[in-house]
Amino acid sequence: MNMAEMERALRELRLSGMAQTLATRAMQAQAAQQPFLETFAAMVQDELDRRRSRLIERRYKRSGLDEKASLADLDWRFNPKLPRAACFELHTLKFIAEGANALIVGKPGTGKSHVAKALAHQGVCQGYDVRYLEADAQFARYALAGAAERAELLKGWVEPDLLVLDDLFLARRISPEAAEVLQAIVHQRYKRHRAIVITSNRVVQDWGKYLADATMATTILDRLMHRCTMLEFEGRSYRLKEAAARLAISPEPS
Ligand SMILES: Nc1ncnc2c1ncn2[C@@H]1O[C@H](COP(=O)(O)OP(=O)(O)O)[C@@H](O)[C@H]1O
Ligand SMILES: [Mg+2]
Repeated sequence: MNMAEMERALRELRLSGMAQTLATRAMQAQAAQQPFLETFAAMVQDELDRRRSRLIERRYKRSGLDEKASLADLDWRFNPKLPRAACFELHTLKFIAEGANALIVGKPGTGKSHVAKALAHQGVCQGYDVRYLEADAQFARYALAGAAERAELLKGWVEPDLLVLDDLFLARRISPEAAEVLQAIVHQRYKRHRAIVITSNRVVQDWGKYLADATMATTILDRLMHRCTMLEFEGRSYRLKEAAARLAISPEPS
């Protein structure tokens, strides 16, 4: 077989990681007079690397995340009161293995969604099945769906190792269907020891009002809080800071 034929054969065998680096590895082996096994080990590693990164990319797409956020992007000096140690503790993802939850509550623009997305992304990178939802939009979609689609949506929110509900109660009142699906999610995930991260601008004490049913709010909160890290995000809005910076650099009207 010549090089082109070998590349084709490797692709046919679904070893596209090896196919991709074959020419380079062949050159390298020749240049370094490398033993066969060393070259072969490098090629096996190339295949493994490519499969892992494609798997992670597939998991990322399925997660519903819209950005690859990281805790490293946060300026912890901007809001010094943020619970930094608790954020990094969550970032170890021990809570996913334990089936515990995290509730991130606080002022707008303080980085709640950013932290939730960073946890979700870390989960994807560590091989977990993760689902990220903008809660209001997805619950509205659920309310409009027919029975079969509802069952499918709920299944997709119960089964992943980690579920992130971003901006819960953004619109304060949620529909009865949304309240029911929230209850179903929390109850079913609780039974299966599966982790949930929730962010909200609304304090927990008010959730009963938004759910329009105090009993339901209690049963939801009981299960959420049973194994839960509570994080409070106090401070200034980073969005406002960015908007102010943009204003400051825009040219003065003459
Ligand atoms: N301390 C921070 N350092 C750097 N960027 C930040 C910080 N806090 C927030 N941001 C950025 O500001 C924007 C708003 O943050 P976000 O997480 O959406 O806030 P929240 O969900 O609390 O309303 C995002 O683009 C986020 O990356
Ligand atoms: Mg947010």
